[in-house]
Amino acid sequence: MQVHIKTYGCQMNERDSEIMGAVLKEKGWQICGNEEDADAIILNCCSVRDQAELKAIGKLQQLIKRKNEDENFLVGICGCMAENLGKELFRRIPKLNFIVGPRQIYRIGEAISLAIKGEKPAFLADADDVTCNCKNNKLHHRNLQELQSSAYVTISNGCNMRCSYCIVPKTRGRETSRPMEAILDEIQLLLESGIREITLLGQIVNFYGMGRFPMINGESPFVQLIRKIHNLKGLDRLRFLSPHPSGFRDDLICCFGDLPKLCPHVHLPIQSGSNRVLQLMRRPYQREKILEITQKLRQRIPLISISTDLIVGFPGETDDDFHETLCLFDEISFDMAYIFKYSRRSGTPAATMDNQVAQSICEERNQVLLEKLKHTSLERNRLFLNSIQPVLVEQHSKRDPNVLFGYTPHRKKTFFSAPSEMIGKIVSVRIQDVSTGCFIGTIIG
Ligand code: 5AD
Ligand code: SF4
Repeated sequence: MQVHIKTYGCQMNERDSEIMGAVLKEKGWQICGNEEDADAIILNCCSVRDQAELKAIGKLQQLIKRKNEDENFLVGICGCMAENLGKELFRRIPKLNFIVGPRQIYRIGEAISLAIKGEKPAFLADADDVTCNCKNNKLHHRNLQELQSSAYVTISNGCNMRCSYCIVPKTRGRETSRPMEAILDEIQLLLESGIREITLLGQIVNFYGMGRFPMINGESPFVQLIRKIHNLKGLDRLRFLSPHPSGFRDDLICCFGDLPKLCPHVHLPIQSGSNRVLQLMRRPYQREKILEITQKLRQRIPLISISTDLIVGFPGETDDDFHETLCLFDEISFDMAYIFKYSRRSGTPAATMDNQVAQSICEERNQVLLEKLKHTSLERNRLFLNSIQPVLVEQHSKRDPNVLFGYTPHRKKTFFSAPSEMIGKIVSVRIQDVSTGCFIGTIIG
């Protein structure tokens, strides 16, 4: 039996899909890369914005049509959307076969087996879910592709923050951190199998182990962990996603520049530049803190690349508030930003706040920021013109099989002509042209 997994949303979901694939393989299922050959399709969906849910529902409806022609064909929903909508999904889409929440992904095989028997399993969070994440975090749940050089490692799950717009605490639950030894063992195995770049994942990754493991010499458990990982033989690059500004203290800032394998790129979601909005969002920091972190980082590594997440049109956001965001945006000059129009998520505190902002204003603010981003990202990218960058080669370009792409340490996507043998290697590329979103260069060795 062949299963196809389609992933929507964030890197956590991507890693969860990989785990599900490995769990299913272990149980004898085959994972296939295309929908057509699949006997079962799993949609691993995101719930962070309304748009993401609508997209998945649209896809689901399309797949249900196929079920009308082949009644043995199975369709299931996993991920945050499964947890958020729960059994309501069966009411909305009666032909759906199974639902598995993000804290139950290890039971995916069981879910499919029950569905084959004609049952409709819904594995959602239960009272045991706090231990469930850790207990199930086994090392062998990997599905490494041939020539893969980069891997995600989830170090914590869930989120203890209560940002007023966010559905994640509901869907992924309270934060649980994995033991350090388990993470180190997992990374060691990855390095032995040829992985060169590790990206640590957690909803608020820098809060890893807080309150569970002690501070040592003023260093947080997260900093202790990255220093230990940095010592592992065979590692070339280390990254992490996504930190929270509140826990971005000097001990972490000092790692940049100190630890050569820690890549000079920080994705720091700021959400807004207005202190008033940050407070309404229940983000426990102010714009001054963001400026302090980014200035300290750029003092240590002038070319460090800094990206962010921003929400426009949060309830009550005035023109003045938006102006504050624009000013902060100018001051920091982000390399990249993911700008989101506020999406009302039912069950979150912001959903019932007064002064919801009109869609047209959200759209307008979104456009203004996108326009600004075009200039700042191009300006930042131009700083790399004519430099020689080490590029970890990932794949062929979709447009031209003679062209490969990979990423620089600053996480700039770089295209260049080279033979396939270079995939998985770190090569030197001279950067000859840049746009807002990528570099183009020539391989020099
Ligand atoms: N509306 C819009 N954007 C949101 N995000 C989270 N919740 C919402 C929402 N309700 C954004 C935040 C977060 C990113 C992953 O998604 O910017 O950092
Ligand atoms: Fe959501 Fe805030 Fe937690 Fe991020 S920190 S997952 S935005 S609640």
